[in-house]
Amino acid sequence: MTKNSALDIEMKNTFAKDVLKGLTAKNKHLPSKYFYDDNGSRIFQEIMNMPEYYPTDAEFEILSMQSKQIYEALKFSEPFNIIELGAGDGFKTFKLLEYLVNHNVDVHYIPIDISQEAMDLLSNRLTEKLPSLKIHPKVGDYFEILKGNLESDYPSLLLFLGGNIGNYQEDKAKELLHLFNKSMKVGDKLLIGFDLKKNPIIIHNAYYDAHGITKRFNLNLLIRINRELDADFKIDDFDFYSYYNPTTGNVKSYLVSLRKQTVELKTLNKSIDFDYDELIWTELSKKYAIEEIHNLAKQTDFVLNSNFLDCKHYFADSLWEKMA
Ligand code: AVI
Repeated sequence: MTKNSALDIEMKNTFAKDVLKGLTAKNKHLPSKYFYDDNGSRIFQEIMNMPEYYPTDAEFEILSMQSKQIYEALKFSEPFNIIELGAGDGFKTFKLLEYLVNHNVDVHYIPIDISQEAMDLLSNRLTEKLPSLKIHPKVGDYFEILKGNLESDYPSLLLFLGGNIGNYQEDKAKELLHLFNKSMKVGDKLLIGFDLKKNPIIIHNAYYDAHGITKRFNLNLLIRINRELDADFKIDDFDFYSYYNPTTGNVKSYLVSLRKQTVELKTLNKSIDFDYDELIWTELSKKYAIEEIHNLAKQTDFVLNSNFLDCKHYFADSLWEKMA
């Protein structure tokens, strides 16, 4: 058995376990990290291109217009590493890298992603557009790869962009940030993207979009379960609902069973009953107040250095430092 297929089997087993756990719970739920199979990743690209989905444009503006300020705030000696966690197509990071290359800053860019295809595309594109950039793409698990950072002779900037932290519940977000902290050297920095609290209507429209793209994104999870666990979800028998609570800052997304029905998960030898209007919670997308970002940094042993906001104050890239 090749190393890769062993990893594939392990990932499939974890998927099966998580799906079973979520669908047999009293309040059914499925982890949003499973949205991103090949088709889900394509639908997510569509979401990022929707005019209503403001986070992508807002963060792109920050990284395009404030590259100089971000670089100066690092106060790094050269060379230094930029390690991007979940780099994807690297679209936003390009502007920061372009600034650094154009100003002859000696930087090693280490994008990390689970998708080999995404890393190949990103490397080809960057090699073509920024030929002098030193790029060392890595495919695999963040934390395995991050272990190498502790041995690096250079200071590092970790990037965790896109507001991905918002998809973690509070305890899990803290756990993740503590893990980042452990794989950083004293003086290393973390630039982390937070979607901010704002007019609830803007947030509502970004997640409950009129064209149903986010609905397709959620339903794709049932299609994935049908394919990978030999299940028989009838996709038309489920709808999508999402709402924003401006008090907590939580956007919560759900699939809704449109009738009383039973779904077979043949691989798991299990049938799951759904009531009429029963919900499956699929995603949390938390929106932060600036004060909450300060608290989170403190609680995870970082010192917040500066917040970079877009002109509408929709999104923040927050720069944190690991202290001794
Ligand atoms: C990846 N993540 C930050 C997105 C978000 O905004 O929570 C995923 C998403 N879900 C629905 N639209 C976008």
